Amino acid sequence: MGHCRDSRRVLSIGRCLWEANRQGVVDWAPIVAQRVDLRVQIGSLEFSNPILAASGTFGYGVEFAHLVDLNQLGGLVTKGLSARPMAGAPAPRLAETAGGMLNAVGLQNIGVEAFIREKLSLLRNYRTVVLANVFGSTPGEYIEVIEALEQAEGVGGYELNVSCPNTDAGGREFGVDAEMTGKLVAQARKVAKRPLWVKLSPQVTSIVAIARAAEECGADALTVANTYPGMAVDIRTRRSRLGRLSGGLSGPAIKPLTLKLVWETSHAVRIPVIGVGGIETAEDVLEYLMVGASAVQVGTAHFVNPGIGIELVKGIEKLATTHKVNSINELRGILER
Ligand SMILES: Cc1cc2nc3c(=O)[nH]c(=O)nc-3n(C[C@H](O)[C@H](O)[C@H](O)COP(=O)(O)O)c2cc1C
Repeated sequence: MGHCRDSRRVLSIGRCLWEANRQGVVDWAPIVAQRVDLRVQIGSLEFSNPILAASGTFGYGVEFAHLVDLNQLGGLVTKGLSARPMAGAPAPRLAETAGGMLNAVGLQNIGVEAFIREKLSLLRNYRTVVLANVFGSTPGEYIEVIEALEQAEGVGGYELNVSCPNTDAGGREFGVDAEMTGKLVAQARKVAKRPLWVKLSPQVTSIVAIARAAEECGADALTVANTYPGMAVDIRTRRSRLGRLSGGLSGPAIKPLTLKLVWETSHAVRIPVIGVGGIETAEDVLEYLMVGASAVQVGTAHFVNPGIGIELVKGIEKLATTHKVNSINELRGILER
């Protein structure tokens, strides 16, 4: 402003800045905050920002369209889809815990065919990237779901939920064993022309071994992680507080645990890692990016605020400017050791 020499005329700040700019003496950087580029690329998929809605906490997306502008989300992952409709677990399905929530929904869903007919037809009206979360109780059932989706338009990619009991292997979860996970991913890879993400189970002996098996067998990205097995008891009735004996723990209580798993996996594989567990604030998102996540998913926080995803998009843009980065990708994996 000192360069604006015409002291006899009362110039507005704007006019004075305009004059100074004309003379090339103003550094605009501190005056006009640079917009941070929030776009992230995960394999062949481009997302307008790194905030995605997590499976099972955002319906099939369309149910939230009257509350949230879906186009502002980086992406959304559908409720888990099986080859045939599933009625799910008995009520109660949710129980609040200290800093989190237990759920035993029992993978209720309308089945892949009804999803394509009733939900995907509506989802095609939005720009946001849609990932279909896929599960089954045998490898063949996973394949059936993917084959049906391959015939349909509007799906960006698949996310395999490997935290399901494999009835061909006596009910052991696919995701607790590197060999079983690898075989499932290899079979899915053969039929999936679209990007294939694998969502890992958190309670395993070595998540690194399972992550590497998924990568070697053709996964394009890893989602880390699903819920943690847990229980809650109603001491008056002496029964589980859920309709089932146990459920999956999610929410802020799990964030430090999953953050460490994201750090471990992102340092063990070359494919991108998407972090999910307990995110509620823009600071939480940056923590996940700094330990190595390329993007994040938000789950339980939707139960408190369905618009949380879009608030986080705005929040990270603001927070990233204070870190003086041009692109959100610059924050990925920058944790100092
Ligand atoms: C009610 C509920 C239903 C869920 N259903 C699924 C599902 O169908 N498939 C899946 O892969 N993950 C499912 N999840 C796990 C979430 O996608 C997410 O991985 C987990 O809740 C951790 O994130 P959060 O702490 O932000 O909720 C579900 C979680 C909740 C709370």
